Amino acid sequence: MVSNDTHKSDCAAPGPYPLVKVLAENPFYANLLLEDYGGLVSEFTAIAQYSYNHFVTDEEEVGELMECVSITEMHHLELLGETIKMLGGDPKYVNSRGKFWNADYVYYGKGAYEILTSAIASEKEAIEQYRRHQQVIVDPHIVNLLERIIKDEIRHIELFIAALRKLRNGNKESKQG
Ligand SMILES: [Fe+2]
Ligand SMILES: [Fe+2]
Repeated sequence: MVSNDTHKSDCAAPGPYPLVKVLAENPFYANLLLEDYGGLVSEFTAIAQYSYNHFVTDEEEVGELMECVSITEMHHLELLGETIKMLGGDPKYVNSRGKFWNADYVYYGKGAYEILTSAIASEKEAIEQYRRHQQVIVDPHIVNLLERIIKDEIRHIELFIAALRKLRNGNKESKQG
């Protein structure tokens, strides 16, 4: 298990995070952010999914990447949880309709290809959802925070694509050699 700071920061986009701040309490925004925090497409789902992928894959490099990315998602969970609290919400693991987070939100992929392709799809869905929420939220502090999180999710897609490419090239080489 690799857990040094260099490895962790490798899976986040470069640059600092904005301070967690809100203009004013707003239960509507808090509720909206619960979807990103503990809904179907959420940071909590990403942490659970990537941790599982890390535990089960036999491709060591892919396993390490999933762990590294899951640590970035934990940071996102923390940032959203703090924001939800400041908005007057309760950061329980529920979605916007109050439904508790469910373990069947996780895609339980084991093979390196399916892990990476489903992770790319998950990140794209997360970005789309953040973009929709940015349209609704007028508070600039929250919009900036979501923008910073989106940068990390874009970085994750790049990392997953690179890993997928490496895997394909590796297989080609082993077939030729
Ligand atoms: Fe995230
Ligand atoms: Fe991500």
